[in-house]
Parts: sequence; structure tokens; C-alpha cells
Amino acid sequence: MEIIIAKDAEQAASVVADRFEDVLHERGEDGAVLGLATGSSPVLTYRELIARHREQDLSFAHARAFLLDEYIGLTADHEQSYHRFIRENFTGHVDIPDELVLSPDGEAADPRAEAARYDASIGEAGGVDIQILGIGANGHIGFNEPSSSFGSRTRVKTLTEQTVRDNARFFSSSDEVPIHVLTQGLATIREARRIVLIATGEGKAEAVRDMVEGPVSAACPASILQMHPAVTVVVDEAAARDLTHADYYRFIQSQKDRLGS
Ligand code: GLP
Repeated sequence: MEIIIAKDAEQAASVVADRFEDVLHERGEDGAVLGLATGSSPVLTYRELIARHREQDLSFAHARAFLLDEYIGLTADHEQSYHRFIRENFTGHVDIPDELVLSPDGEAADPRAEAARYDASIGEAGGVDIQILGIGANGHIGFNEPSSSFGSRTRVKTLTEQTVRDNARFFSSSDEVPIHVLTQGLATIREARRIVLIATGEGKAEAVRDMVEGPVSAACPASILQMHPAVTVVVDEAAARDLTHADYYRFIQSQKDRLGS
């Protein structure tokens, strides 16, 4: 894994935005397939990409996007649906075609069939070129809670009490947080050609340590990323707090410039 310790959340967001910009340029008119995440972690990155769109003509006109997950039972226009979140925080402010910003349908009459359809649609689009991820305090990615199978595809999941509590801050009370969700599985996420995970703040420090330096274990679903060939983990100083080898990661970064890569 490539580990980048940024001095603060703004610098972390700028590093992740650079990776997205590289892929948009590389894919050009062939159209980049972007894997997008919700939650607060990617919001500054989205803000940075919106600024680059407005001020530097960064275009998303040929891109399409797949979201990681969605709550079951919220309408698409519900304030907390991820369908709405991504439009309000990112895609509604850039030139990506709205009909190509796709997410699992949390209102589908048959959520299991919807999960299979959504999973297949990612493959039909040629797979994700770059996936942005946050991480839950318990090590989840998407909504793959601890004990998720490393072989899992998009499916229905039940949230842990901790995740319901963590996400209650966006709702008026924890009773309103849906406990069922549709989420890309760990095997689905791993098929993305590049993955950039962003984590900031000391609340993520333990999860970051377990993901990067712990054993690959279903107890920390994000630890499966150790097996992916092109993962970058971007953290601020607070989220890097518990990393045993932080100085080594900083040293690698400082030496990279000398290699010119
Ligand atoms: C939610 C999302 C995840 C996200 C996580 C962390 O559960 N499904 O994709 O990574 O929350 O959220 P935050 O970035 O707000 O801490």
C-alpha cells in the first residue's frame, strides 16, 4: 500500500483530487468510470474537484459514476439518501451527465435482485477506474461491516449498532437511521483498478492502523485492501496517530521525489 500522511485534511483532499484528475486525463474521451463514496471523509475532495472544474476547466463530461451503497427504504430525494447526497455534494456541481451517476435503488421492491443488477451494471460499464473510499470507525468500507466475506458482491447488509450510532449525526435521531442497506461487496470493490482511501481525524486512527498494519481479517474489512495492487491510503496526522511505521511511510514519500516518480 502507498501511505501518504498529509499535514491536514485540506492537503489530504488535494492529494486525492490529483489522483482523480490523473485518471480523468488518462481516460479522456473514452470516459473514466469513477467509484464514489458518501460520508463526510470525501467531501473536501469533492469540493476541491468542483473548484478545479470551475477554475481550471477540469471536465467530467465523458465520465460516469457508481456509488458504493445506499440505504434501503429511503426515497431517492430523502435528505439522507446517498442518491441525493452525492448530487448535493459533488456531481450536481460538475458537468458529469446526471443519468450516468448511478447508485443501488434503495426503493426497489426486490432488494436482492436490485443488488445483483447493480453489481452486473458495474462490470458492463467496464469496471471502475478509480474508487474513492472512506473508512468506518470499525474498519468498514462501503457498508461492509466486520465479518463481511472477502468474496462478497453487492448485497443487502444489516448495519452494526456502532454504524447506526455513527451515522445518526446526519438524521434527527438514531431511530430514523435505516438498519438495512445495499452495498457493493468487498470483492466488487476490489475489482476497481485503483483505490484511494481517505481518512482524517483521530476517530479513525485505530481503524487506519488495523487496515494498514494489522492482519488481513474480516474483523477489519478494510484490511483486504492490503491484497490490492494499486491502493493509496491518504491520512492526516491525527488519523496516522497509531501507525507504528509512520516515519517509514514519510521517508518513502520523501525519497519518491528523488526518483522522480
Ligand atoms: C458510511 C459509508 C461509508 C463511509 C463511512 C465513514 O457508513 N457507507 O462509505 O466511509 O460511513 O463515514 P465518514 O466519512 O462520515 O466518517
